[in-house]
Amino acid sequence: EAAEKGGYPHFMLKEIYEQPKAIHDTVQIYLNKDGSVNFKDLGWTEDCFDDIDHILITACGTAYHAGLVAKHYIERFVRIPVSVEIASEYRYSNPLTTSKTLCIVVSQSGETIDTLAALKEAKRLGAKSLAVTNSISSSIARESDNVIYTMAGPEIAVASTKAYTTQLVALLLLALYMGQLRKTVKPELVKEITDALKDLPKQIEKVLKENDYMAEVAERLIKAHDIFYLGRSIDYAIAMEGALKLKEVSYIHAEAYAAGELKHGTLALITEDTPVIAVATQDNVSSKMYSNIEEVRARGAEVLGIGYEDDAEIGKYTTETVRIPRVDPFIAPILSVIPMQLLAYYTSIKRGNNVDKPRNLAKSVTVE
Ligand code: G6P
Repeated sequence: EAAEKGGYPHFMLKEIYEQPKAIHDTVQIYLNKDGSVNFKDLGWTEDCFDDIDHILITACGTAYHAGLVAKHYIERFVRIPVSVEIASEYRYSNPLTTSKTLCIVVSQSGETIDTLAALKEAKRLGAKSLAVTNSISSSIARESDNVIYTMAGPEIAVASTKAYTTQLVALLLLALYMGQLRKTVKPELVKEITDALKDLPKQIEKVLKENDYMAEVAERLIKAHDIFYLGRSIDYAIAMEGALKLKEVSYIHAEAYAAGELKHGTLALITEDTPVIAVATQDNVSSKMYSNIEEVRARGAEVLGIGYEDDAEIGKYTTETVRIPRVDPFIAPILSVIPMQLLAYYTSIKRGNNVDKPRNLAKSVTVE
């Protein structure tokens, strides 16, 4: 097993560090030389979305969180309404799925029974289907009309890291591809984003240099009972994944909140004993995000901000700030989740937990 860990103390850390390669591998297979996106195996044509009036994304756990980010991607680039449903809920919700629905299922293992059952239900109701999975010839891959693969390689740690970021990359490429076909996104913009995706492995390497800093910050989180994760827009979806990662491996209660919603309910829970992680990468809402950080600071909370390296403002409001390179706001989530993965990892090991096999969790859940 030590050999399989390639010198890392745990699979989770190894897999966090494998993200540049996993992302490189996922990006390069779906790109044309001119920077356009190519999923030619799908056999989709220009007019194949004319009959689609709704896109349903359904998944569980971390893959569900990837779906929440993909909603932003698809609605922006494809201009078709997207709903994202937890697979175990979708199935029993008397869904409004029709033959005009495209159902996208996301699953690292391709074997999650809830996701497979949701896919079958969507198909029964007439939906067209597409799976995004890391697992060739898995049950979900076989059941779907079409499949696209993430190139994360085997993921051993129960808490998903590289599978999640490759799902974000694949779903962003998919959204660009659909937009390309429907002409709802300009080729120049596609090229700009795919160029940025090609650069992403390098940017991730830079963010991984924050490893020691995150280990230090984790030291201060180990005694906390509750930690809040705040964000707006795509950063809210990322905050949900950050909170899940922490809960899964550290066993500390964490809650992600849409930053603007705090004042409508939970602000009373924020005290000097509730550390806050605040993600601020979406420029259109950054000033609002700063006021939300001020709000929680005023209640005594310590705040770790996650912001761009050239953001001169954020540091004025936070207790600590971890920086990511300036990238397109659609790509930022793929960088901002990395410090949160490291934070979860270090909080877990500093509390003496079995980080690769957290209690009561399984890598792939094949019972309902
Ligand atoms: C399990 C794992 C989670 C994972 C979820 C979905 O609950 O513990 O880490 O996100 O299943 O797995 P999938 O293989 O469908 O992505």
